[in-house]
Amino acid sequence: TVRTREYWATRIGLILAMAGNAIGLGNFLRFPGKAAAYGGGAYLIPYFIALVLLGIPLMFVEWTLGRHGGLHGHGYLTPMLYIVSRNRLTKKNAAAFAIIGGTIAFLTGVMITGYYTNIIGWMGYYATAAISGKFAELTDATKAKTFFIDFLTDPARNVPAWFISLLVITLIVSRRVRRGIEIAAKIMMPILFIEAVILATVSLTLGAPVKPEWSTLKGFEWLWTPNFEKLKDPATFIEGAGQIFFTLSIGIGGIIPNYASYLRREDDLPLSALTTTSLNEFAEVVLGGSIVIPLLYAFGGPSIIQDIAAGKLSIFLASMVALPPLFNHLGGLGALAGFLWYSLLWFAGITSAIAIVNVLTSMFEEDYGIARRYSAWIAFMMVFITGVFVNIEGAMKTDQLTDYLDLVDFYAGSLLLLVVALFEVVAALWLWGIEESYRELHNGAYITVPKWYWKYVVGIITPIYLIIMLAWFLATGTESAAAKPENIFGWIGVAMMVIMFLIGLALNYKALYKRYGEEIRRGVS
Ligand code: PHE
Ligand code: NA
Repeated sequence: TVRTREYWATRIGLILAMAGNAIGLGNFLRFPGKAAAYGGGAYLIPYFIALVLLGIPLMFVEWTLGRHGGLHGHGYLTPMLYIVSRNRLTKKNAAAFAIIGGTIAFLTGVMITGYYTNIIGWMGYYATAAISGKFAELTDATKAKTFFIDFLTDPARNVPAWFISLLVITLIVSRRVRRGIEIAAKIMMPILFIEAVILATVSLTLGAPVKPEWSTLKGFEWLWTPNFEKLKDPATFIEGAGQIFFTLSIGIGGIIPNYASYLRREDDLPLSALTTTSLNEFAEVVLGGSIVIPLLYAFGGPSIIQDIAAGKLSIFLASMVALPPLFNHLGGLGALAGFLWYSLLWFAGITSAIAIVNVLTSMFEEDYGIARRYSAWIAFMMVFITGVFVNIEGAMKTDQLTDYLDLVDFYAGSLLLLVVALFEVVAALWLWGIEESYRELHNGAYITVPKWYWKYVVGIITPIYLIIMLAWFLATGTESAAAKPENIFGWIGVAMMVIMFLIGLALNYKALYKRYGEEIRRGVS
């Protein structure tokens, strides 16, 4: 077998790369959108409960599985699950368990990245449009909407925008971990933070550029005023947990285990995991919560925000159609502010997408022995296949324009993440063992995670919480509009998920048997 493993060159590089994979469009768009829809300030209750009972436990579990897997030469989740599950299961059962868990993880990663990189492309295009002064003509929301729909329905513009972003991602990944990913994180993350801090400051001090009663602070207040009624709706809890998963990149394709696989045995895990979690939460709740909603409110007033809260307008669309005209209210600085906002989203997206493309790349590289410079391009093609339907649906000018995107986001971006997490917790705590995983978590650790937390919270409450979430999700969540295919592209989304599941199954099966086939066939544990 090939030994191509690297280690992170520096601790700060690791932290920035991990923060980079977590901090993404989820922080600056998805989070404020969910908060607006699910009770504002009250949403923070299910959100922070989920952080403590699901988010932090899963961070510890994924970091532990990942480093352990890396020490055995694996950057991919399936063999990681296998080598720990065989501790208590027969080899055959461990293999079956690992392949199913790994395949679902593959499905989430490859499906999410398709639409996610497409949206990154929108941001890249808008950043260039802003700085080149194109927004000056977009004097009202109607014109801005036309501009966006024209872009979304014009493959001559949206395909290159997507392709350039995908190319940047692939080129970084093909340069390996130290020279590609780590350097990119060290450059992009500081830029991202500076841009976000500037924008949050501008947003909160902007006042009321359009109507005196529409100030950004009013918008801020609108967002955070708690609506406790919403806590009676199970969807609020599902969406609180779902956002924790999405934003921390938990259960997405095995991203965190993959990055953790480039750690040394003597590197700290728990403090590093908590540090990256804190960076993500700061970027999400403090910065993400202070930019887009206050700005939208200041321009469009309560009605636009109410549409977002009622699920009539996606926050992603709102950012594309409502914000450009607002930036014009800033006069000459508008072009710069627009550039800051869309380039912030572009950087945030790129550093997340790099992570997931690296997962796929490392599978081809380490489990199939294909050189990284080719593996990265195979990953590129897989992402292309799952993302291109966003462009085709746009070009066909369907009513919804984003039915494929919404449906895939619902299943791969919310529901299946919980399933992957359940596999990981069961593998680490129950099959590997409380003692074994606890010990691995603490090799080289700077802090001690209380044993009771590991045993009772991570080992019992977290999986129960996950199961309740899944049950609720299946009982009520599938009623929502995004869950149902509304046009042919929704159905294509369903078909693509089935196809990718089967491809993932084949790839995962082969990968695991290539390395451990002998052992699995020989049998007993
Ligand atoms: N954590 C990312 C975010 O908040 C989500 C993500 C990660 C999406 C990796 C795709 C790939 O935006
Ligand atoms: Na995030």
